[in-house]
Amino acid sequence: MPVIAPSLLACNFLKLQEECDMLNESEADWFHLDIMDGRFVPNISFGMPLVEKIRKATNKPCDVHLMIEEPGKYAADFKIAGADHLIVHYEACPHLHRNIQQIKNLGMKAGIAINPHTPVQLLQDILEYTDIICMMSVNPGFGGQEFIPHTLTKIQLLRQRIDQLKLNTVIEVDGGITLQNAKAVIEAGAHGLVAGTTIFNAPDPKGVIQRLKHI
Ligand code: DX5
Ligand code: ZN
Repeated sequence: MPVIAPSLLACNFLKLQEECDMLNESEADWFHLDIMDGRFVPNISFGMPLVEKIRKATNKPCDVHLMIEEPGKYAADFKIAGADHLIVHYEACPHLHRNIQQIKNLGMKAGIAINPHTPVQLLQDILEYTDIICMMSVNPGFGGQEFIPHTLTKIQLLRQRIDQLKLNTVIEVDGGITLQNAKAVIEAGAHGLVAGTTIFNAPDPKGVIQRLKHI
């Protein structure tokens, strides 16, 4: 069964406790938290204080997706705020191996996100050090965008490589996931689905999570 990671970017922040309670009761596996700095991506979301609050509202792992420049400067602060997984962008990290080691040394799982135009082949020399690959299926920065179909080819390629190397690296796919395309994403080789709009805009979010989990 796929890992389901609802993206709280699409939740109702005025009812954050209720949204967290709903996710706690649901079949969701991870809480996906999108951090945007207005520089790496053309949008600003939220930061450590909110991660801290969410950490206190759940026992499920917090999957923190940093869409920020110079993520190394903030890795320790996100650990203190309660991140279990820290995901940095390939495109934001000229010294990626150093970032990955830093995250692991801080005691978190280390993830790399790649933009839709970044070839998966570029991950070849870092894959064995990486716990999670967050494959972006939209251009990062906003929820509610449409899934880019070419992502499916990239998932297949990356999954082949992970299997060839006998690694345990988890592929999560992030952006534009719907009940219509989720099956194709899993069949292409993804282990996990990040979904915001599809879950939180639905009349029955828990039901949608259940359907994604059993897709
Ligand atoms: C986009 C974020 C995603 C986003 C997904 O930059 O990384 O996690 O919240 O939202 P939906 O599922 O609405 O595309
Ligand atoms: Zn994300």
